[in-house]
Amino acid sequence: AQTVYSAIAAGYRHLDSASDYGNEKEVGDGIKKAIDDGLVSREDLWITSKLWNTYHAPEHVKPALEKTLSDLQLDYLDLYLVHFPIALQYVPFEERYPAEWFYDPNVEQPKMQFAKVPLFKTWQAMEELVDAKLVTQIGVCNYNSALFQDLLNYARIKPAMLQIESHPYLTQKRLIKLAKENDVPVTSFSPLGALSYLELNMADKTESVLEQSVVKAAAERVNRTPAQVVLRWGVQRGCAIIPKSTKLERLKENID
Ligand code: A2P
Repeated sequence: AQTVYSAIAAGYRHLDSASDYGNEKEVGDGIKKAIDDGLVSREDLWITSKLWNTYHAPEHVKPALEKTLSDLQLDYLDLYLVHFPIALQYVPFEERYPAEWFYDPNVEQPKMQFAKVPLFKTWQAMEELVDAKLVTQIGVCNYNSALFQDLLNYARIKPAMLQIESHPYLTQKRLIKLAKENDVPVTSFSPLGALSYLELNMADKTESVLEQSVVKAAAERVNRTPAQVVLRWGVQRGCAIIPKSTKLERLKENID
């Protein structure tokens, strides 16, 4: 809650949330405090959340959104995204929330269990959320070109956003071109080059984009930090970027 409040105080207006992050109640507390303290009004904010894989069946889409809205203490979202083009077996909220990837995480070898729900059925249920004015816009995350083209072919309400991982190590040039040719804006997640892999010990610090000599040289030349250079690169490619930080100095560095 405090991180979200600090981000809003530092000037952030675009908040990227998801059921799967397991913190929508805390995010909602931060938003509420910022609004109650008069920092912003609801209309000043752009609030995104995402439908988790276990709620792809049409009858689960609206309840999943309503759970998110209630946790965030909001009556509408600016944008609701399909988190992954992967339908998993339904898990009731009371059983486990967020439901995460594995159907039965307590067995010796947990596995994913898929649900037989085609993506177009999920999209139709997403469109009904717009009709009901519970969300202003709908879109998708983690779709590749073929899935995205297919979505454009069947959508009654065209996707308003494509959110994908994109940074100097994963430029996704052709996918971004496809979205732009269809006038669909793109949000890049992990715009600093998926530094979270460092936290998870899945990468070595020397592999970080921020440690590369070309980035360091550019930073020195323009008197900015390496992170600022990489974020600016993301913005100049015409994408929205959503760098996550829990640290106030970095929140300020990144928005600068
Ligand atoms: P922290 O939260 O400790 O600041 P993501 O890829 O999900 O956007 O995560 C971004 C990662 O980069 C997080 O691990 C975050 O750590 C870190 N980070 C955010 N801003 C900066 C920055 N300006 N310089 C270095 N690391 C950063």
